[in-house]
Amino acid sequence: MSRQYYIAGNWKMHKTRSEAAELTKSLVEGLKDGKHKYLIAPPFTALETVGAIVRGTNIRLGAQDAAAEEQGAHTGEVSVLMLKDLGVQSIILGHSERRHTYKEDDALINKKVKLALKYGFEVILCVGETLEERECGQAEVVCENQVLWGFAGVPKDALANIVIAYEPVWAIGTGKTATPEDADAIHAYIRKVIGRLYGADAADRIVIQYGGSVKPENVTQLMAKENIDGALVGGASLKADAFLPIAKFA
Ligand code: PGA
Repeated sequence: MSRQYYIAGNWKMHKTRSEAAELTKSLVEGLKDGKHKYLIAPPFTALETVGAIVRGTNIRLGAQDAAAEEQGAHTGEVSVLMLKDLGVQSIILGHSERRHTYKEDDALINKKVKLALKYGFEVILCVGETLEERECGQAEVVCENQVLWGFAGVPKDALANIVIAYEPVWAIGTGKTATPEDADAIHAYIRKVIGRLYGADAADRIVIQYGGSVKPENVTQLMAKENIDGALVGGASLKADAFLPIAKFA
């Protein structure tokens, strides 16, 4: 297996520029000999500040969302052109908070995915079921549909720029983590879906992160699973002393 572990921090709506700068400097220092692939996604307002600090390091700059249009009358939205201009390399799309709190549907997310890929960004596409869906035995089909929608119209040669993050909604910010076995089962299922769409080689290559209450205490067991290739970390990415041990798990 040639997949490289990929650890990403999603700061959500946290940190002013000065707070962001302080955390970023600690992460640059702490990860300079890190062995995995790394990304941090600060809020839009801190992208320029954080971007200047991570430039030339082993930490990629990510945005937490982007508009589905390049420009125009879209009050409050941020365009891929603006993100390119700031040196952003990756965009998180379809995060459960965008899907559930802000009612983004699969068609909108697919439009964003295609636009981001067109402009050469790496996309981290988030999928995941709610607790109710899991309890009804729907976890696999919900994730499958989100993947099918997310990848609709995406050609095979764009796959190298897509990462999937499996984030069960009930595990995000709740302190509840999927067991490594449950997470791995969904990851394996998603990999099968990618195989059906793009072939076995694509399924083998695609990086699938797990997200949902990843902590220093549970990262090693999660990452030990065959189909778990990294983590998308929320709460624990806000402090260097929590994120660094996650990012440097052995
Ligand atoms: P959490 O968030 O680590 O705080 O559960 C993960 C995410 O939403 O990406």
